[in-house]
Amino acid sequence: MTDRRLLEVKGLVKSFGGLKATNDLNFDLIEGEIHGVIGPNGAGKTTFVSQLQGQLLPDLGEILLDGEDVTRLPAHLRARRGVARSFQITSLVPSFTALANVMLAVQGGQGHSFRFWKRAWTDDALAGPAHVALATVGLDHKANAVVADLGHGECRQLELAMALAMKPRLLLLDEPMAGMGRKDGAAMTDLVARLKGRTSIVLIEHDMEAVFRLADRISVLVAGRVIKTGLPEEVRADEEVRAAYLGHSH
Ligand SMILES: Nc1ncnc2c1ncn2[C@@H]1O[C@H](COP(=O)(O)OP(=O)(O)OP(=O)(O)O)[C@@H](O)[C@H]1O
Ligand SMILES: [Mg+2]
Repeated sequence: MTDRRLLEVKGLVKSFGGLKATNDLNFDLIEGEIHGVIGPNGAGKTTFVSQLQGQLLPDLGEILLDGEDVTRLPAHLRARRGVARSFQITSLVPSFTALANVMLAVQGGQGHSFRFWKRAWTDDALAGPAHVALATVGLDHKANAVVADLGHGECRQLELAMALAMKPRLLLLDEPMAGMGRKDGAAMTDLVARLKGRTSIVLIEHDMEAVFRLADRISVLVAGRVIKTGLPEEVRADEEVRAAYLGHSH
């Protein structure tokens, strides 16, 4: 891991009416790290990720991606720069096969318009990387299954394959284990562990065991503000964090 800052966020503010969902938020991500973001419900985690992706624009503050100011850059141009988001956003096409869905993502990652999707079916340049992405998430055996026939956990894996197919430099994961049973959750945890070092990851997750196992560093978000960033053991030991969020049982 280098010490290069892939992402720097300074003084981010985002209000919804009178509520400051993001309130002077400061954050940074070192290239190659998994940076966990934890915090209570409504702390502003998803709002933060939406601003990193470009789906929401902040009221104040700045977001630097590899030194470039992307604060006001539209989402599709951030995607071109390697920002990919999985979960709570990707729409799978239920009547298409798993492979076809990933091929569309590969095509998007290559900068082509989805309007030309019909050409995708015959294009080995799309099928090859799509199979690689499916294999990475352990879903290649379901390549020809129609999405409507996949289970919930498999759909989650497929969404991650679609994000990976775009070869992201920065992968935004918003609760990848949410709604999964123990077995699928454990498989997803293993998968994220295998991605470590291959891409930089912002990992939002309520499953504390998974976050503390996976993350190189953890930031604690409370009421729209990062109250602590540190190594997992530092965060676990921090009194303010315990009081604000973790409780004393952890
Ligand atoms: N589009 C919106 N309009 C108005 N209020 C919003 C909007 N999006 C989020 N909020 C509010 O902003 C606050 C932060 O919400 P956010 O979804 O970012 O929290 P979160 O940390 O992701 O929570 P959770 O852990 O439940 O996913 C909440 O009070 C929420 O109700
Ligand atoms: Mg959320």
